[in-house]
Parts: sequence; C-alpha cells; structure tokens
Amino acid sequence: MKVRSWGLVGGGKGSQIGGAHRIGATMDGAFSLRAGALDIDPKAGAAYARSLGVDKDRAYGSWQEMLEGERGRKDPIELVTVATPNNTHYEIVKAFLEAGIHVLCEKPLTMTVKEALALEKLATRKQRMLAVNFGYTGYPMVREARAMVSSGKLGAIRLVVAEFAHGHHSDAADADNPRVRWRYDPQQAGVSSVLADCGIHALQMAEWVLGQRCESLSAHFLSTIESRELEDDASVQVLMDGGTTCRLWSSAVAIGHQHGLTLQVFGEKGGVAWAQEHPNQLLYTALNKPTQVLERGSAGLSKDTVDSTRIAVGHPEGMVSAFANVYRDLDLALGGNKRAAARLPTVSDGISMVKAVHAAAKSAKADGRRVKL
Ligand SMILES: NC(=O)c1ccc[n+]([C@@H]2O[C@H](COP(=O)([O-])OP(=O)(O)OC[C@H]3O[C@@H](n4cnc5c(N)ncnc54)[C@H](O)[C@@H]3O)[C@@H](O)[C@H]2O)c1
Repeated sequence: MKVRSWGLVGGGKGSQIGGAHRIGATMDGAFSLRAGALDIDPKAGAAYARSLGVDKDRAYGSWQEMLEGERGRKDPIELVTVATPNNTHYEIVKAFLEAGIHVLCEKPLTMTVKEALALEKLATRKQRMLAVNFGYTGYPMVREARAMVSSGKLGAIRLVVAEFAHGHHSDAADADNPRVRWRYDPQQAGVSSVLADCGIHALQMAEWVLGQRCESLSAHFLSTIESRELEDDASVQVLMDGGTTCRLWSSAVAIGHQHGLTLQVFGEKGGVAWAQEHPNQLLYTALNKPTQVLERGSAGLSKDTVDSTRIAVGHPEGMVSAFANVYRDLDLALGGNKRAAARLPTVSDGISMVKAVHAAAKSAKADGRRVKL
C-alpha cells in the first residue's frame, strides 16, 4: 500500500478539530503526517509537531515556512489539510495549490464567493484536488440515505428538514467570553455566525443526499443575546434546483440540544431520518408501513455504505471514522477511483455553501425576501 505524505496547517494542541483530522487521516494507513505548521504560535506549533513524530526540519513555525520548505524538497507532501480559522483559508489554500499540492480545506471554504470561485479556477488550472471537509458525509448511514434517494426507493423527494441546532452559546453571561465573542463579531466572523459555522453542515448534507443544489432561499436571523451583532439562530427556507424544498434550522441557543445535527428526507414512497448523535442507525419508513431501524454493518445496505464501514454491526463507529472515510476517499480518488471521487465533498460544495451564507445574510437583512444563489 502506498503511504501518501501529508501535511497539516492549524489543528494545534487544544484545537477543536485538529485531533479528528490526525486520527482520520492516518486511520487506514494511507496518509502519514510528515510536515506541519500547527499553531499560530510558531514555537508551540513546532514543538507539538515534533511530539507527533514529525521530523525537526519539517516541524515548521508558520505555513509560509512550510510552503518554502516543502517546495524545496524532492519528497514534498502530496496533500495538505487546512484547519485554521476561517478568515485564513483563502490565502493558505491558494498558496498550496499554486505550489502543486492537493488540499483538503475546512469549511467554510472562504469568506467571500469571489474567493471561493477563484480557488476553484486555480485548482482546475493546476489540476489539483480541492476538497472541503464536510466530514459528516463520511458517515456510512448518511451514505445509505443518499443511496436510497438516488435509487428511487423513497420516490420523488417532497421535502427535506435539516437541523444543526445546539445550545452551547445560550448563557448571556458568557457572551463576552473571548472564545465565544469573536463568533458574533462581523469583523472576524464575516456576514454570518451560526449559519456559516453550523447550518452549512446540515444544508450541504441535504444537497449531497438529494443530489440537488440550492437555487434560492429566504432567511430569518435572530440575535437573541443583545450584545451579538451576528445571528445566533437562523431559519432558512431553501428551494433546491430539483424542485425540493429544504427547511433549515440552525441555532446556538437551543438549550438542551447537544450536537444537534439531524436530517429528515420525505419522499412520495417513504422517508428517512438520521441524527449525528446516533450515527449508526438510519430510520426508514415506507409509505403505510411501520418504521424500520437500518443498522450500519447489517446486511442489505448499499455499496457506498459497505465500503465506508470498518467494524461489525453493533460496535459503534463515530465522527473520526466519518473523517477517516473522507480521507480514504481522497486516497482512492488520488489513485483514480471515480466512485470515491464522486463521494467526496468538493470545491463545488464549498462554493455552494459560501453562496448560501451570503444569500441568507442578504435575505435576512431584507426581512426574508427570496434571494437567488
Ligand atoms: N468539519 C467540522 O466538523 C468542523 C468542526 C469544527 C471546526 N471546523 C473548522 O475547522 C477550522 C478550525 O476550527 P477549530 O474549531 O479547530 O479552531 P480552534 O480555534 O480550536 O483551532 C485553530 C488552530 O489553528 C491554529 N492557527 C490559527 N492561525 C494559524 C495560522 N495562521 N497558521 C497555523 N496555525 C494557525 C491555532 O493555533 C489553533 O491550533 C475552522 O475553519 C472551523 O470552521 C470544522
């Protein structure tokens, strides 16, 4: 098995998502962490990279040093993951693509639609892969839902209800905590807070499961805590280009909701429901029939689901395994596997979600006027 040389920018010690990338990328042995600029603090980043087994000369103090260092090598990294704060994605992704390195970028891809389109153009010109980490698409039972829609088992899809509503920014006393405050500051977070951070995961999942793109939308934003300039709750009605309506709710003030990502798809012949807090089960109800629980790892599931499953039925798989499926598909797609490439969340998904965020912010400002993407 070929082991691909992999680099990570961001994801330093204590970061929210760095660990999931390191475990996910290396779970199947297809990638090995060979270079990193892991932290905004150069010394801390280099020290952490060393502690993870990266050679001294590739444990860099900044992404600019990493770019120069890797460019000068005979064996540079093949893929870099960008897991830094959102407003840095554009320049880092652009620089690594220009150097001919494939990129997996964290969501949201960029802060503006113009930047997202420019990256797509650059990736095409350089013939390099640019994937965007909508990592929940890696869950086997989300893949099962997609297979059931595309096979026609649910019939024409009438309605999708997508949610990413958590309650972790509900405490008004916490509003000035620096770890929370920046998320509601347009200077740092851009035009949207909870929709850009969480809601796009649910909306991208709706697009991905349906095989449809968002066409137009109408949005209502709330800032339930007075000091917040950006929304901590968003309700968006989306018309998809295949004619399906998607109702999206995203919130940071839904007290009692823990993670809160769910997807429900309702067709003419049946419906499915999935929740990230119970990711190994997909509820399926055929018209006029009792509800069935489809278990990951059981018989009769689609090829994409089976390909994404590592351990036997009954043993829970979770979020890092879903990330590992994205990395497995990256590895296979780099090797020319078209089926894996078709499963990957790509730059097109990234662009669609940046467009959706900007359209929703515009619509919310205009009291819910419908805006085309
Ligand atoms: N796909 C998902 O499920 C998911 C979940 C959480 C976060 N994210 C995304 O991942 C990204 C990072 O989020 P997080 O929550 O881990 O943030 P975080 O603040 O917890 O960690 C960010 C890390 O990046 C480092 N960093 C910052 N600027 C840097 C720079 N210029 N060069 C190198 N390192 C730098 C920081 O030191 C820190 O280690 C964001 O884009 C976020 O939207 C995605």
